[in-house]
Amino acid sequence: QNDEDQLVIDAGQKQFGATTCNSCGMLYSTDSPEDNFQHTQFHQRFLDTIKFVGWKKERVMAEFWDGKIILVLPDDPKYATKKAEDVRRIADSELGFQQVNLSSPSAAKTYLFINSDKMVVGCLVAEPIRQAFRVLVQPDKPKDMTKDDFMERHRAWCCSTMPEKAICGVSRIWVFSLMRRKGIATRLLDTVRGSFMYGSPLNKEEIAFSDPTPDGKLFATKYCET
Ligand code: ACO
Repeated sequence: QNDEDQLVIDAGQKQFGATTCNSCGMLYSTDSPEDNFQHTQFHQRFLDTIKFVGWKKERVMAEFWDGKIILVLPDDPKYATKKAEDVRRIADSELGFQQVNLSSPSAAKTYLFINSDKMVVGCLVAEPIRQAFRVLVQPDKPKDMTKDDFMERHRAWCCSTMPEKAICGVSRIWVFSLMRRKGIATRLLDTVRGSFMYGSPLNKEEIAFSDPTPDGKLFATKYCET
């Protein structure tokens, strides 16, 4: 046995071993000093941002066994709007949005899902809109995988040129990576539909998603049954 060879092989294997932090969800390599540094930088800031201490006045829109949904409006106290904005920033950076601009900030409604561990694990920003353009079904081209990959990664969906009536635009929807596939996005949207317009619940047709990511498209397709 050659000890030196063995060492090299071990090091090589470890380099490829990526870990997901089970509290902040960041994927990183424990063997890379840069990755470790990035993780330490990110970890506490992220957990501080999603920490929810509870407010004297909360607009609770729905309650569940594993959490609740609260609504934050633009004219709410600073501590509330700041929390909504900080969480939205996290979502934006994950979505790869550069500039944090809402199309109508004064009318934007932010729905936050707070779990039983007092963390904001879901965020949905809804804005009033008048019309939307349907994303067209991509014809399946199994042979041309590279192109499809490109389209997915660059969110190059083809849209209809015919506007359709819509009332509520979902400009952002985000769920903490470790809490996905538990129906949090579904419950956020159900709550939006029931409360966006006072006294008149919206149907799934009246909601539009802006510029969906691949995840967002899969979710929206399932949710809207299209
Ligand atoms: N792949 C395939 N199907 C999916 C996925 C996925 N990644 N995510 C959701 N679905 C479908 C499933 O059918 C799922 O039901 P199931 O778990 O019983 O199979 C159904 O949608 C409902 O999913 P939820 O649990 O309600 O969705 P979740 O809470 O996991 O949140 C979301 C989905 C918001 C897209 C989440 O994955 C996320 O935050 N991703 C990163 C941010 C992002 O891409 N957001 C969308 C941007 S588009 C926009 O903001 C307008």
